[in-house]
Formats: sequence, C-alpha cells, structure tokens
Amino acid sequence: MGLRLRLNLLLSLLFSLALAVAIVYLLGNTRRAVVDELRASTELASHLLRGFRDSGAAAGDASAVAAFVAHLAQQHAPLRHLRILLADAPPPAADADPGQARQAPAWFARLVAPHETVLRQAVVLGGTEVSIVADASAEIGEAWREVRTTLLVLLLAFAGSNVVAFVFLGHALAPLRRLSAALEGVGRGRYATRLATSGIPDIDVIVSRFNEMTAALERSENDNANLARRSLAIQEDERRHLAHELHDEMGQSITAIKALAVSIGERVEGPLAERARTIVDVSSDVYARVRQMMTRLHPVILDELGLAAAVELMVDDWNGYHEDCFCELVCRHELPQLDDEVRIGVYRIVQEALTNIARHARASSARVELSVSAQDGPAPVLHVRVSDNGVGFEPGTRSSGLGLRGMRERAQSLGGHWTLTSEAGQGVCITAEIPFAGN
Ligand SMILES: Nc1ncnc2c1ncn2[C@@H]1O[C@H](COP(=O)(O)OP(=O)(O)OP(=O)(O)O)[C@@H](O)[C@H]1O
Ligand SMILES: [Mg+2]
Repeated sequence: MGLRLRLNLLLSLLFSLALAVAIVYLLGNTRRAVVDELRASTELASHLLRGFRDSGAAAGDASAVAAFVAHLAQQHAPLRHLRILLADAPPPAADADPGQARQAPAWFARLVAPHETVLRQAVVLGGTEVSIVADASAEIGEAWREVRTTLLVLLLAFAGSNVVAFVFLGHALAPLRRLSAALEGVGRGRYATRLATSGIPDIDVIVSRFNEMTAALERSENDNANLARRSLAIQEDERRHLAHELHDEMGQSITAIKALAVSIGERVEGPLAERARTIVDVSSDVYARVRQMMTRLHPVILDELGLAAAVELMVDDWNGYHEDCFCELVCRHELPQLDDEVRIGVYRIVQEALTNIARHARASSARVELSVSAQDGPAPVLHVRVSDNGVGFEPGTRSSGLGLRGMRERAQSLGGHWTLTSEAGQGVCITAEIPFAGN
C-alpha cells in the first residue's frame, strides 16, 4: 500500500475516532441542555402559576384562571415550548411548531429526549388543576440544527485535511518517484542522469548525493573507457610491430633458406637433392604459417583495401578451415572510409566472434553482416552482426573468457553499443553499433 494511501487511511481512522468522541460529547451536552431548558421553562411556568394562585386572583373563578393561562402562553417567550392545560379544557393542537420538530431525525430525538417527569408538572388553581406539559420536540429541533452544523464543519475539515494531505504528499513524493526511475536508469548504465532539486530539504539531500554518485560513476566510466581505448591501442601497436618484425626478420630469413635450398637442389643429385626439395617445401610451409600469423596479428589488407575487403578475406580463410560450417558474408552497403581505430575495432570483433563460433558453437552455418545507417542519430552508424545456428548458451551462465568482454570493451571504447543474444540450442547473435565520422 502506497504512503499516500496509508497516510489518508490513518487520517480517516484518527478522524473517525475524534468524530465518535465528538458525537458522544455533543449528544450528552445536547441532552443536558434540552433538559435544563425544559426544566427552567416548566419551573418558570409553575412559579408564575403559583404566584397567580397566591395572589388570590384565581379563587373560585375558572374563567380568570383560563384567562391567565392564555396570557402566560402568549406573553412569555421562554414558555413557548410549553403547553399549559386546564383539566376541563379540550386538549390543544399537538404541536405549536411541527416543522421544527420534524427537522431532527428520529434517532437523534430518541438519544436526546428527556424523561417524562421533566416534561410534566401540575398546579392546582382555585380547584382547577392546571398541567404544564413541556414540548421537547422544538427544543430538540433547535439542538439538531446546532449539532448538524458542528458535524458538517467537522466533516468538511476532515475532507479538506485528507485532500490537502493527498495533494501535498503527491507533490512531496514526486521527486522520490523521479529518483527511483533515475536509480533504475543508473542500474542500466545511464550515468549521465542528474536530478533537479525539489525544494524539499530532506529530499534534496538525497538528490544531491545521487547527483554526486552519478557524477563519480560517469567519471570512472570515462576513465575506464579511456583506459580500455588506450590499452587496445597499445595492443594493436604491439601487434602491428610484431607483424612487421615477423615480415622483415622471419620472412627474409625463410626466403633466404628457401633460396639456398633451391640452389643446393640444382647443384646436387640423388638423396641430397631430395633433402633440398624437402627444405624448400618446409620453408614454404613455415612461410605460409608466418604470413597467417602476420595477418592475424595485423591484417595489412585492412590498411590497404579497407574493412569490407579484410572481412571478406577473413571469412574466406575461415571457410577454408571449417568445412562443416559455411559462413556467409553480407555487406549491405559500400562501406565509407573509416578511421584506423574503427576499422581495426570492427575487424577484431568479427574475428573473435568467428573464433568463438569455431570453438564453441557446433554450428552448420554462420553469417556476418555489415551495414551503414545514419538513422540512429546525428553521426552515421556502422552495424555489425555475427550470428550462428549452433548450440548457443544462456548468457551469464558461463564463466566468461576474455573474448566477449574484449568485444564489448572495443565497441564501448569506440562510443558504440554491443549486445549478445542467445538461448541454449538457439545459436548466438552478436551485434555492434559503432558511430563513425561520416565522409
Ligand atoms: N557462438 C557461440 N556459441 C556457443 N557458445 C558460445 C559462443 N560464443 C561464446 N560462447 C560461450 O561463451 C563463453 C565465453 O566466450 P569468450 O569468448 O568470452 O571466452 P572463450 O572463447 O571461452 O575464451 P577466450 O578468452 O579465449 O575467448 C564461451 O566459453 C562459450 O561457452
Ligand atoms: Mg572466445
């Protein structure tokens, strides 16, 4: 249950308790007030009647008594809720003001109505019994109007406080909702998120800590990316250097050995000539392997003919070594001129993906796709996709080697995204989207 709902429920509970106490208190008070009012009226009427009797004006004259009773009823306002009845007079109308009495609901009247003894008194005047009967209904009607107004005010206060609490909490919790969404984003690697202050000091402390945290994460992510980019660049330099060393030193030496073996073979005959031919074959073999190593260390064709040609050669080579799995290359667009860094990065991603297919996939077919699109943002993007129909794996279940991590780091160090989707038995699909400076 949300905090808002909880607070509103708590307020409702507290208010219901307060209302119950207020109702009990109001009913008790009203009942006392009604009794006091009626008792005072009947006492006053009885006092006036007794005064009339004691003055002797009532002695033996029933009509004088009747006239006095009528005068009492008309002249004394506090007695308006009393009926003063002569014993032999016909009963008057039941209620002087039925409209007022009807205003109080029956339950209220039952709760506050006084006992019968409070409502009735009798005085004997000149042999005539005069009954004073208090009519509680009008008194109760008045009391109901007051109680109803008080209850209405309380109810309005309750509704108002609930609405204010609901709106205020909604306003106060909005920054927390934004904070929660931002934290989820941080979990997904969106470290550039910053939150605006809310004007609520308690929450702003958390907001400023959050902003400090994302700033620190962003800094360390940038540091990591720079470090990865730097170490990849150093690695590539080292590989290029090794490739050149192999080419210059080993290549020339092997060529020299081969030339010597050829010249020996031309000068001798018999078993020696046979040995010389073997040296020539072995030298050619070693040279082919060294060339392979050179290409793997640094594909010269990448610098000379570009990415598409280098990937094509790599896929051709790969197909030459893997007869049970055919890899298709789809190059959707003519690739533009790319930076050294992008060229070698994409080349290494495809290279590692194909190596993984050969080592782990047990696939019968694989596919490498290269395409360019400018739709993803201001900079054009190079899309790379390498997929296979092999055994696949549940990502996250394997203790990852360096290959997948290296691919991701390369893509990220080029400012791009790298994703791997796979399920056991469903093959693996690797995509990399690398932005590049269009030309
Ligand atoms: N195409 C694929 N098909 C099936 N499993 C794969 C595929 N690519 C990767 N995997 C699984 O993911 C794991 C991690 O691959 P990763 O390239 O990171 O390491 P590796 O190939 O085992 O070692 P290395 O560090 O030499 O690359 C592999 O061990 C393999 O289980
Ligand atoms: Mg690997």
